[in-house]
Amino acid sequence: MISITAPIVVFSAIVSLALALVSPSGARAQADDGWQPQRGQTGKDVMWLPTPDELAYRLLEVARVGPNDLVYDLGAGDGKIAIAAAQRHGARAVGIEYNARLAAFAQRQVERAGVADRVRILQGDLFQTDFSSATVLTLYLLDELNQQLRPRVLGMKPGTRVVSNSFAMGDWEPDQVIRVGTQVGYYWLVPANVAGEWLIEGLSNVEGRAKLALVQRHQRLAGTIEMEGRTLPLLSPRVEGARLEWRYVDSSNLLKAVRVEVQSDRLEGEMAPPYGMVESIVERIAVRGRRVGG
Ligand SMILES: C[S@@+](CC[C@H](N)C(=O)[O-])C[C@H]1O[C@@H](n2cnc3c(N)ncnc32)[C@H](O)[C@@H]1O
Repeated sequence: MISITAPIVVFSAIVSLALALVSPSGARAQADDGWQPQRGQTGKDVMWLPTPDELAYRLLEVARVGPNDLVYDLGAGDGKIAIAAAQRHGARAVGIEYNARLAAFAQRQVERAGVADRVRILQGDLFQTDFSSATVLTLYLLDELNQQLRPRVLGMKPGTRVVSNSFAMGDWEPDQVIRVGTQVGYYWLVPANVAGEWLIEGLSNVEGRAKLALVQRHQRLAGTIEMEGRTLPLLSPRVEGARLEWRYVDSSNLLKAVRVEVQSDRLEGEMAPPYGMVESIVERIAVRGRRVGG
């Protein structure tokens, strides 16, 4: 005979498993005790001040947040950025907040806003938390904290978008400065690491292979391409996320443009004349390469 308590036991086991999977440090949805955060109250590394709505909304717009994104707000405060990412852009979001009372408050705000299916608040230290799965990072910390985070941010997937209220990233220049009234924010796109020497196939008719040498500081690039016995300077090389692009003048004095996608130590794309020719008559040549030196 099957006991009628069996389904109840199975159900509660499933619920416990589900809760365990949420995260051991997931902020608990405690009963509302009426506690309210106070502007300027101490956090661990920086105090709590909320990003004003207009700037928060603009930062999320500039970062082009959409339903496929996973937004991490590092130092989530009352959860407003994570909530706005879900409510206004349909994204999933995680807020990491060190202060336990603030994290619990933010979790209640998430539930009040009706976005608990897409937003989680984790109570913990952002410097000890793995946020590598984020596609968008939002920050309102301090210059020195941003700089501390910078190596981890630059190690994220190329194309990850980063926005910061007020504070910059040292010599990683922003790709965009955002002004809303008197407030300032910054936007960066994590660039692929493209520094070093690459052997490229597809560019040279004569020897078959060219050697690309790139010097990189964040999104800024310089370099040369060696082909057919000549070393040519690159004209306006650019890296935007995983996309790498450069131009050069070939031995026939023609301007050539190369656009490739970089994946770790491989690249693949095409060469074409850069100047508005009719699509159908542009000869596109497949280009691929591999990194041979760091
Ligand atoms: C300036 S507030 C920004 C809040 C929110 N991101 C916003 O823009 O409205 C910074 C928040 O980071 C939290 N914080 C400070 N140090 C932290 C750390 N090491 N880990 C996680 N949160 C931290 C503070 O408690 C505070 O809530």
